[in-house]
Amino acid sequence: KHLYGESRENSAGVDWGNPQQLAEQIASLQKAGAELPHAAPSTLAGNIQASPTEVRNPANRAELVGYVSMATREDIALAFDKAGQARKAWDDAGATHRAVCLVAAADGLRTHRAELVRLLVKEAGKTLPDAIAEVREAEDFCRYYAAQAREHFADPLALPGPTGEENKLFLRGRGVFACISPWNFPLAIFLGQVTAALVAGNSVVAKPAEATPLVAALAVRLLHEAGVPKDVLHFVPASGKLFGEVAFKHPALGGVCFTGSTGTAQFINRALAARDGAIVPLIAETGGINAMIVDSSALLEQVADDVLTSAFTSAGQRCSALRLLFVQEEVADRLVELIAGGMDQLHIGDPSAPATDVGPVINAGAASKLDEYSQRVQQKGIKLLKQCSLNQVRTEGSYFAPRMLELSDARQLTSEEFGPILHVVRFKREKLSDVLAAIREAGYGLTLGVHTRIESVWQEIVAEAAVGNIYINRNMIGAVVGVQPFGGEGLSGTGPKAGGPHYLFRFATERTLTVNT
Ligand code: NAD
Ligand code: ALA
Repeated sequence: KHLYGESRENSAGVDWGNPQQLAEQIASLQKAGAELPHAAPSTLAGNIQASPTEVRNPANRAELVGYVSMATREDIALAFDKAGQARKAWDDAGATHRAVCLVAAADGLRTHRAELVRLLVKEAGKTLPDAIAEVREAEDFCRYYAAQAREHFADPLALPGPTGEENKLFLRGRGVFACISPWNFPLAIFLGQVTAALVAGNSVVAKPAEATPLVAALAVRLLHEAGVPKDVLHFVPASGKLFGEVAFKHPALGGVCFTGSTGTAQFINRALAARDGAIVPLIAETGGINAMIVDSSALLEQVADDVLTSAFTSAGQRCSALRLLFVQEEVADRLVELIAGGMDQLHIGDPSAPATDVGPVINAGAASKLDEYSQRVQQKGIKLLKQCSLNQVRTEGSYFAPRMLELSDARQLTSEEFGPILHVVRFKREKLSDVLAAIREAGYGLTLGVHTRIESVWQEIVAEAAVGNIYINRNMIGAVVGVQPFGGEGLSGTGPKAGGPHYLFRFATERTLTVNT
């Protein structure tokens, strides 16, 4: 039994040691049937746009994966109108009913795992282990939020009062939630936002990232098949700018759940502040310049392994990824040597091959942005310690070679570089407080790793750090639903913890009823 929520287990993965399971997973990457998926708005004000946009494989742009018809301004407005009309009946239907729908959706995800994995690999360039883990996380979100809703939303909370007075506290939906998600977790984050908003009693207009509409469209289909009415959940693939222009001014808007870059969250915050009518909350989960601190007592072989995992898994395209490695100077040369040796062993290439560690970045634009950054800082004197070789990759793919740079001062890194670039900074033991000051000054607070065998050292760091997720003596990615509730503070977000026991409350409004009996 969990501290909060009914008894519940996270989903099982694929056993890679089992040849049959591995073979099935690889076979599932072949598309069944000739027809390519086509994502389109689930609510249309007119006809579907005549010429859909092609969705291509980031690992091989010659491969067409599907099509997307983007929503028009009218489609977006209609989705909000209809969601506004549908929200009360859905809220009145009660949390138990809504939880049943989420559990049915979790079952649907399990049944369609092969197709979801295929889309995550082909549309988002996810490696097989990443794709499998993402489907599991999506399923876990559904079951976890269903359990939370049953526990907290199904019945009002009875409160004390004088004799003859009855007091109750109800949790209700806020209205229509606009759910806006990034491409780097196009299933788990997309679905996590949507299911939290739905189960709390809101209707939803869900906007996937431009780069990853196909897997999101399938997730919405599974929610509809699980019993969520079509007027309660609207799928709106659209450009962020156009969506924002319509959504943030719409009178039915009850809240915004956003995951993406800090700059976009700040823009949305300003747009919501400027809106007329009801004041709506923003739930924002954003980026980070995440650090790991390693002192001379740490086990360096383990550190090297955890650094490689934290910095380069998912081609560094995780908000949680390690960007800034602070190493105590006495052990810095040895650790750099171990990490460089590990980088030589990284398998970079086709994400659908089981042996691949690092796949492509999301598109050619992302690869050239990372390249420009890397060239620019090296021209300014920042040292390149190591760069992986890209010999094995297809030239039609959007690949970027993982690299390790050395900074003389952590303040040289001023922005989140969203890819496989690790920055190393040496520090003196007596200057640990300067390291903590540099992390604080950057203003982000998403993840932090610490490697030390001295308990008082990590306790001192934990006491000073304003960071949402801190990991001691392990890697710092891959938060598990219900185990490591995930989310940051400061420039990293408004503090919600996805997959945590307090998340659903952010999507609800509270009503107190006092009856003089
Ligand atoms: P992004 O901010 O460019 O886009 C995110 C979403 O916002 C997309 O759907 C986009 O279309 C939409 N958008 C853009 N402009 C908009 C506007 N004016 N109005 C409304 N919507 C708008 O981010 P991205 O490049 O898709 O994702 C990468 C970023 O996401 C990184 O910064 C990463 O750290 C962050 N991220 C954070 C978390 C977390 O949980 N904290 C998780 C994953 C990713
Ligand atoms: N929740 C994801 C992680 O922890 C982003 O890596």
